Amino acid sequence: MSNKLFIETLGCAMNVRDTEHIIAELNKHDDYTTTTNVEEADLIIINTCSVREKPVAKLFSELGQFKKKRKNGAKIGVCGCTASHLGKDIIKRAPYVDFVVGARNVSKISNAVKNKGTVEIDINYDETAYEFSEYRNSLYKASINISLGCDKQCSFCIVPATRGDEISIPADIILNEVKKSVDTGAKEIFLLGQNVNNYGKRFSASEEKYTFTKLLQEISKVEGVERIRFTSPHPLHMDDEFIEEFATNPKICKSIHVPLQSGSTQILKDMKRGYTKEWFLNRCERIKSKVPDVRISTDIIVAFPGESDEDFADTMDVVEKVKFDQIFNFKYSPRPNTSAATMEQIPDEIGTKRLSHLIEVHKEHQNEHMASNVGKTMKVFFEDLKPNGEIMGFSDNYIQVFVQGSEELLGQILEVKIISASRTSLKGKILS
Ligand code: 5AD
Ligand code: SF4
Repeated sequence: MSNKLFIETLGCAMNVRDTEHIIAELNKHDDYTTTTNVEEADLIIINTCSVREKPVAKLFSELGQFKKKRKNGAKIGVCGCTASHLGKDIIKRAPYVDFVVGARNVSKISNAVKNKGTVEIDINYDETAYEFSEYRNSLYKASINISLGCDKQCSFCIVPATRGDEISIPADIILNEVKKSVDTGAKEIFLLGQNVNNYGKRFSASEEKYTFTKLLQEISKVEGVERIRFTSPHPLHMDDEFIEEFATNPKICKSIHVPLQSGSTQILKDMKRGYTKEWFLNRCERIKSKVPDVRISTDIIVAFPGESDEDFADTMDVVEKVKFDQIFNFKYSPRPNTSAATMEQIPDEIGTKRLSHLIEVHKEHQNEHMASNVGKTMKVFFEDLKPNGEIMGFSDNYIQVFVQGSEELLGQILEVKIISASRTSLKGKILS
C-alpha cells in the first residue's frame, strides 16, 4: 500500500517547484500519494520560507499542531529556506522533528526520511546537474528551474544565506526538461530562478557563455511550447536586447515582474539594488512603449531602515508613474545575517501607515486597469474547473479570466470577449 504524504508549501514559486521535486524524489524510491488530511499522513513535510519573520513564526506553531494531529509513527520533516537557515536548531526547539533538509539539498530527501536526525543544509551543494524525475502539479503548465541561488546580497534579503551562490543550470538540461514537459502535455513553461535574467553568468562545470535572451529563443523553438513565463527578473539586468525579445517573441507571455523595492535612489543604494529611480522608470517606460498590453507587477518594501517621508514619496511617485497592475507590498522585516538588520529601524506605526496608503492608491490603479479590459478580446489558456461551473484560465498578459463552460475547455487556448471586470479578475464569453 502506498505511503501518504502531507506537504505544505510556504513562500515563492521556487518553493512550489521544490515541493514538486520532493514528491518526485520520494516516489523514485518508494510509493507516495499526497493527502490534504494531516491525520492520515505517514510523512508530514513543511517546505518553509524565511524571507520575513512571519512565516518562520508560523512554522513552529504549525509543527506543534502537526505533532498533536499526526497518527502513530508518522514522521515530520522541515524543508526549504528556514531549514537552511535554522538547521539543527529546529530539532533542538522541536525534538519530534525527524529531519531537516535545506532548499539547496532537495535531492537528499529520500535518505533523510530514512535516517532520523538527518540535517542536510549545505548551501554550496550543487544540484545544477541533478536531473529530478518528472512530477508536476498541473497537467498544462511546467515550472522549470534555470538557476539556483542568488549573488546579489541585497541588504534586506536572507535568500543568499538560504539558497547559496547563483549557479545556472546547463541549457541542455533545461531544454531536455522543456521537451519532456511538452511531450507529457504541458503548453506553458514557467522558468524559475532568483534572478532569471542573469542566467548564464556562472555554470558549475563549464565556461559556456549563454544569456537569458538566448535561452528564451531556444525554448521558444521547441515544438509544443505555446507560452513562456518567468520569474523573477532583476531590473538591473533588463537590457535593451532582453526587452526586445520580451516584446517581439510571440510565445512569451506579456506579463512581467519588475521588483522595485523602493523608488528612492538613496534607499535603493542602501538596499544595494544597483539601480536608480530613473533607471527603473526608464525600463518600465521602454517595456510599456514596446508592449502596449503588458501587465507589470512589482514588489515594494516600505519602512526600510532610514526611509524618510521624502523617500517614501519617491516610491509613491514611481507607483503613480508606472501604475503597476499588481503590487506585492511588504513592511520591512529585519532578517538575521543581513546588513539592514543592524541599521536604525523605523517605528512600526510608520510602516503600517505607509503600507495602507500604498494599498489604497494601488487599488485605484487596479480598478482602472481591470475596467479598461472590458470589450477587449483576449487569448485565454483554460486550466481549472470551478465548483460553480465556471472555467478559469489566464490571458496572455496573465489576468485571471472566468467563462461559463465545461471540462472539455481545459488545456485549450481560446479567444474570449471580456464582458465584465472586478479588481482581480475578468469575466468573458468564448468567441472561437
Ligand atoms: N522584509 C520585507 N520584505 C522582504 N522581501 C525580501 N526580504 C524582505 C525583508 N527583509 C520581499 C522583497 C522580495 C520579496 C520576495 O520579498 O520585496 O522581492
Ligand atoms: Fe521564501 Fe525567498 Fe526562500 Fe522563496 S527563496 S522560499 S521567497 S526565502
